[in-house]
Amino acid sequence: VRPSKISIDTNALLHNLNRAKDLAPSSKVVAMVKANAYGNGLELCVKTLSGKVHLFGVACIEEALAIRACGCDDEVLLLEGFFYSDELALIQQHNFTITVNNQQQLRALLASKLTKKLKVWLKIDTGMHRLGFEPSQVQAIYEQLKNCPWVDDEIVMMTHFSSADEMESSKTLGQISSFEQITVGLKAPLSLANSAAVIAWPNTHRDYIRPGIMLYGASPIANQSAESLGLYAVMHFHSEVIALCHLKPGEAVGYGELWRAKRPSKIATIAVGYGDGYPRVLKENTPVYINGCYAPVVGMVSMDMLSIDVTEVPDVDIGSKVELWGSNVSIDVIAKHANTIAYELMCKVTSRAR
Ligand SMILES: Cc1ncc(COP(=O)(O)O)c(C=O)c1O
Repeated sequence: VRPSKISIDTNALLHNLNRAKDLAPSSKVVAMVKANAYGNGLELCVKTLSGKVHLFGVACIEEALAIRACGCDDEVLLLEGFFYSDELALIQQHNFTITVNNQQQLRALLASKLTKKLKVWLKIDTGMHRLGFEPSQVQAIYEQLKNCPWVDDEIVMMTHFSSADEMESSKTLGQISSFEQITVGLKAPLSLANSAAVIAWPNTHRDYIRPGIMLYGASPIANQSAESLGLYAVMHFHSEVIALCHLKPGEAVGYGELWRAKRPSKIATIAVGYGDGYPRVLKENTPVYINGCYAPVVGMVSMDMLSIDVTEVPDVDIGSKVELWGSNVSIDVIAKHANTIAYELMCKVTSRAR
């Protein structure tokens, strides 16, 4: 059996949830589990969090149905609403909560003559310019929804930040103030905060927070480590040494002879590569953790293998365990080396490593 697998620490997931709750003690929690719980596995994450959060947030009806298929009856929020109006029958049948983002969705909902009351969140575009109604339209749309017999009386007003990870961002201040102006007279619950805002913008917590990445133990804030924020790694990516080579100075490792030994070097071959989701762009000096030490990746990452320099690591042998990311190697560090974000690394672990 190939030894290269991710494992998911559900205690860390619960710890991180509690961290979010501690930061926003008066808010309800929408746990973001879209994209297979950010790659951490929908079923396991939903079963771990069920009953401990108020809603699950997903991107589409397929993901919402997958939550029901886990035997979970918790409230599920479709963050992009429905794509086609024929989804409304299923939405009604499964009591999904929808976001209304645009005029097409609004018209389809008002025309649909549903038999049950649907829970609706109304998305306002305060500056992300991706989804939602522009502020000047919101009052009228809110009234239309309020007057619709098959829309639940309580309509949650929501917006999403573009730059909440920048601690002093004037953009976020502008989005908050625009959202406040629009919603000030309405007796509606409010939701603004993603993970970065849960941590950095306490005045945005309001009725519902929507943490995603922080639940999975990566830092939502640039230049602040997950550890310093009290978050624990949920995804642990491990492999093993499957071969050892002893190189003389001048000898090279891997495709394209990218790395060349400057001294007599002990190189370990690890059974993991981009075919498992370990990024090929990672080059020299990306750390892995082995036998209590950090060792650098050397040469090109290939599909099934990569090489590390273990010249200074004691007792490395075939079968030695290697952590690619997890408790000792922060996924944020790997993301930085790969010029990406932890979200993408988690999502891109391939089926072979699951
Ligand atoms: C509308 C909305 N809310 C909340 C989140 C969670 O964001 P994060 O994972 O940064 O906490 C997302 C993620 O993309 C989102 O689209």
